[in-house]
Amino acid sequence: MATTSSIDAILSLSKRKGFVFQSSEIYGGLNGCWDFGPLGVELLRNIKDSWWKAMTYRDDIVGLDASILMHPRVWEASGHVGQFSDPMIDNKTSKARHRADNLIEDYIGRLRTKGKSADADKVEAALAAASSNDDLYRIIVDNAIPDPVSGTTDWTEVRNFNLMFETHVGPVADASSTVYLRPETAQGIFVNFKNVMDASRLKPPFGIAQIGKSFRNEINTKNFLFRTREFEQMEMQFFIKPGSEDEWFEYWRQERWNWFLSLGVSQDKLRRKPHERLAHYAKAAEDIEFAFPFGWGEVEGIHSRTDFDLGRHQEYSGKKLEFVDTVTKDRYTPYVIETAVGATRTFMAVLCNAYEEETITAEDGTTDQRVVLRFAPHLAPVSAAVFPLVNKDGMPEAATAIYTSLRKSFRVDYDTSGAIGRRYRRQDEVGTPFCITVDGQTISDGTVTIRDRDTMTQERVSADALDEIIRRRLQHSSR
Ligand code: GAP
Repeated sequence: MATTSSIDAILSLSKRKGFVFQSSEIYGGLNGCWDFGPLGVELLRNIKDSWWKAMTYRDDIVGLDASILMHPRVWEASGHVGQFSDPMIDNKTSKARHRADNLIEDYIGRLRTKGKSADADKVEAALAAASSNDDLYRIIVDNAIPDPVSGTTDWTEVRNFNLMFETHVGPVADASSTVYLRPETAQGIFVNFKNVMDASRLKPPFGIAQIGKSFRNEINTKNFLFRTREFEQMEMQFFIKPGSEDEWFEYWRQERWNWFLSLGVSQDKLRRKPHERLAHYAKAAEDIEFAFPFGWGEVEGIHSRTDFDLGRHQEYSGKKLEFVDTVTKDRYTPYVIETAVGATRTFMAVLCNAYEEETITAEDGTTDQRVVLRFAPHLAPVSAAVFPLVNKDGMPEAATAIYTSLRKSFRVDYDTSGAIGRRYRRQDEVGTPFCITVDGQTISDGTVTIRDRDTMTQERVSADALDEIIRRRLQHSSR
């Protein structure tokens, strides 16, 4: 029987096995920042590779790697300087700072846990109708929502808190030297639209894809990698002729859904959530959500954004960002369909999706427990592990030769310590899809066993065929 488990279990495994560590842990950690350990970097890289292949191994999308620091006018044009803020409220006793909407959402959750669903519905309806900071303040005060830290209800008013991190270029720290750590990768694409179109001789419809770090000074970071202050995004802006946006929005909705399925994420842990309220310039927007252990959460947004972004950059830079068809003389500012997914948030979804605690019953009726990460094989940080059954009779030498040969093509582990069952369990816990055991028969006929992580079945194959077998299985998994 298998059970999926809580964030705590996943966090503990992540640290123990080297997927993710708290940033600056020996100094007590830095809130909202995480470090990816030896296995974590491999998993994250495999997720990014999968996205890069899906998005750029095609005729109509090219890649970009823009700088993190950009001209400050970029963020005025994009609206981030004026509007990229969350509603913040402080508790006067504890000095704890909260996002006002999150405080209310958590309160609704507590009401539901206590079975007070009518009260929860009422607060939820008020939150859905709230359109100002004053509305949020009234909900908090009218319901006497307490501060989770001090338990008191002495609140400041709700005010806007801009999420962009500021820094300064050059030696003088004054207003003229202020720049921002980018809060999204998208603007690097918009400002390079014309450079890329001209250099690559592309015409709409075409896209620009980028993977990179983004930074947001989130008021409350929570749930492990879900909401962090430094994270990685994978964004693609698809530039199209006005009038074709509905068709392309539908196309990208399907493509992006299918990509999550290609990562092995179960369909029943995914759902689509169309935005109830659209920005004034948007024609459509939909999130893909994943069922995290704490509830449903957005992993990707697909947005139909009209010519808003290019239009604003034209206005603020004074430079034309148009497409001109040299044959038809048609001239227009392209519309944009954006696909925006968090690499680190997807990492967390993939980890949660893969995690299982399982009770295994042997043929003789005895039971055993195992933790297994059921990663799609092409995402697994380690593709295969090689073991000599015992450390004598030529087995270590034969196993080392196989390991050395496979290591040229794949990330492979080698383990000689402990009973073979324990070695299998260690690999199950980090999600290694294939374990190869060298035994007495290997020495006589050159065959080995290859054990499948999920079915735990073993088959005997020629050691010479291992490279091809593993390659085929990884390719099959990535389709
Ligand atoms: N350019 C559009 C944009 O940035 P977004 O919905 O703000 O849209 C896109 O972000 C994705 O980036 C989200 O779906 C999420 O996966 C990821 N993301 C956003 N904020 C994040 C945070 N604080 N921590 C981790 N991932 C985040």
